[in-house]
Amino acid sequence: MKHIFHKGTDERKPTLLLLHGTGGTETDLLPVAGMIDESAAILGVRGNVSENGMPRFFKRLAEGVFDEEDLITQTKGLEEFLGNAAKDHGFDSSNIVAIGYSNGANIAGSLLFHYSDALKGAILLHPMVPRRGITLPDLSGIPVFIGAGTNDPICKPEQTEELAEMLQKAGANVEVHWENNGHQLTRDEIEKAAQWYAHTVK
Ligand code: MLT
Repeated sequence: MKHIFHKGTDERKPTLLLLHGTGGTETDLLPVAGMIDESAAILGVRGNVSENGMPRFFKRLAEGVFDEEDLITQTKGLEEFLGNAAKDHGFDSSNIVAIGYSNGANIAGSLLFHYSDALKGAILLHPMVPRRGITLPDLSGIPVFIGAGTNDPICKPEQTEELAEMLQKAGANVEVHWENNGHQLTRDEIEKAAQWYAHTVK
């Protein structure tokens, strides 16, 4: 997958996996990563799917309606890519924390839904429920921060609550932070995620 890797200045820190929203690129979330942990390594990835030229991490049939088969295929592809990228760039594949926004949050959620050990933690900014009707793997102790909007027209509050509950039932430690700014990513929300990261992710 097209990506950037920046080595961290503190090797004990996780590698931050950056997953952009629809139409974004591997560099979009660099300022966010800098606010979360400036000494961590960074792996910014570009989604393999193009929707009228806009990069995404998996296909959709309509706004908010996912192509489930492609979601599963692309999630597996991303999981395999992470293992290979860890070997190529020399980071620990068991110490990856995802930061995903919108479509990127949805593929990060899908990694959690399908693999118990792909992520050590996740910051999901405006995520949806990636899939329903499956048993989630054991996510015991995995910290997950969800940034959501009470008035987000794409990721409705009911979906946020449903997602938080599904992850919690699988054992994850979930914290939900609510904003009032629709689907937008705000500085306040990132600051809250940074505070959560500082006291939760070790
Ligand atoms: C998705 O397709 O992943 C969600 O609808 C969010 C987005 O607009 O990318």
